[in-house]
Amino acid sequence: MARSQWGSRLGFILASAGSAIGLGAVWKFPYVTATQGGGAFLLIYLFICLTLGLILMATEMAIGRATHLGPIGAFRKLGNKKWAGIGIMGVLVAFLILSFYSVVGGWTVAYLGKAITGGIANSTDPTTNGNLFTDFITDPLQPLIYHFIFGFLTLFTVVSGVEKGIERISKYLMPILLILMLILIGRAVSLPGAVEGLKFFLLPDFSKITGATWLEALGLAFFSLSLGIGIMITYGSYVGPEAKLVSSAAWVILLTLLTCFLSGLMVLPAVFAFGFEPGAGPGLTFITMPAVFASMPFGHLLAALFFALLLVAALTSSISLLEVLVSFLIDEFKVHRLKAGIIAFVLFFLLGIAASLSLGAWSSYTLFGYNIFDMLDKLTQNILMPLGEILLTLFVAWWRWDKIKVQLCGGNDSVWLSFLRFALGVVIPVIIFVIFLQGILG
Ligand code: TRP
Repeated sequence: MARSQWGSRLGFILASAGSAIGLGAVWKFPYVTATQGGGAFLLIYLFICLTLGLILMATEMAIGRATHLGPIGAFRKLGNKKWAGIGIMGVLVAFLILSFYSVVGGWTVAYLGKAITGGIANSTDPTTNGNLFTDFITDPLQPLIYHFIFGFLTLFTVVSGVEKGIERISKYLMPILLILMLILIGRAVSLPGAVEGLKFFLLPDFSKITGATWLEALGLAFFSLSLGIGIMITYGSYVGPEAKLVSSAAWVILLTLLTCFLSGLMVLPAVFAFGFEPGAGPGLTFITMPAVFASMPFGHLLAALFFALLLVAALTSSISLLEVLVSFLIDEFKVHRLKAGIIAFVLFFLLGIAASLSLGAWSSYTLFGYNIFDMLDKLTQNILMPLGEILLTLFVAWWRWDKIKVQLCGGNDSVWLSFLRFALGVVIPVIIFVIFLQGILG
């Protein structure tokens, strides 16, 4: 089957990085690091990304290149109907993630609007900025409107054929986002009191590490690198035979980690300098950054630019998630692309409404102490994505190693290949399982 290919290896790396880099790096990473105790968490997160993350990403890409198919088709072809269940679980997880991802994407749209109209970047006071955010997300209607707008933008991009265009412009916009972040870091670290934040972020304090910390780091690694639902299988299915998968995956991971690291340097020093609450949770970036903007010349302009660029980064990730749902509906139910897009949109929009309301009006509906928003987040990144990767690694190492090893390193039997097979077949699934158990039990 002819399958169009990326223009170049660079195109492949940038498209995969476009899916990986998004709200995970800029919104989730700083607040999770803050709630998990800072420097020690950072080290564990980096360690997991550079070891497990690297092998898993290259392996997902290898499955794609071996089959030239998306996840469900790939598992069906390499294995059988039952193994295709891993792909179907991936579709379910993509749906669950997209529902709350679109809510947070909506916050970005709302803050872009507020930056333009002068509604933020006016105060460095923690209470004022905190209230601004809380009043917004607990409003029964406002966040839903923005959730709709973000979801609709994602839908429009996926069904209108401008997806390639977005990927093309994001090649230029992402470096601008990183440069803007460097400027904001310059301001953040020069604030009086910022040193405390730098210490918190960069000096590990291992007394803060528990089993739960490891599971959060693992889940965040999967979420921020777009692993665990077979997305990288799809990206790998378009790549030519000459591209080296392990080094391509390494590039994607390094770019994502760079973005995470810069986000931490941008947000955490400011949190301490202005006296925000580090454990504020999902609002941290949205509460802290307006204070940074307020303390800079051209603050409103920089704020608008920042949220606009963050919006593009979020969109290149959300379209990769919606693409999973749309391809599934097209391939399995033979529906038209537009219809598939609309069905998927309606479903994730509705679940997203529940996620959004659970931060305000519905906050009393909880399970194990988690509201619906947290529940969707934890269920996907700490349970379903690890489970998906355990099944995937076992499948690759014990079922179709012959097909996959060729993709990973040309297939010449070597010590490295035996090591890799042992890692995939035993070490990685065991490590994920142990981290999972420890996280759940303690
Ligand atoms: N990695 C993206 C982010 O950090 C989110 C995302 C896109 C994702 N596709 C994914 C997460 C697939 C898990 C699986 O913003």
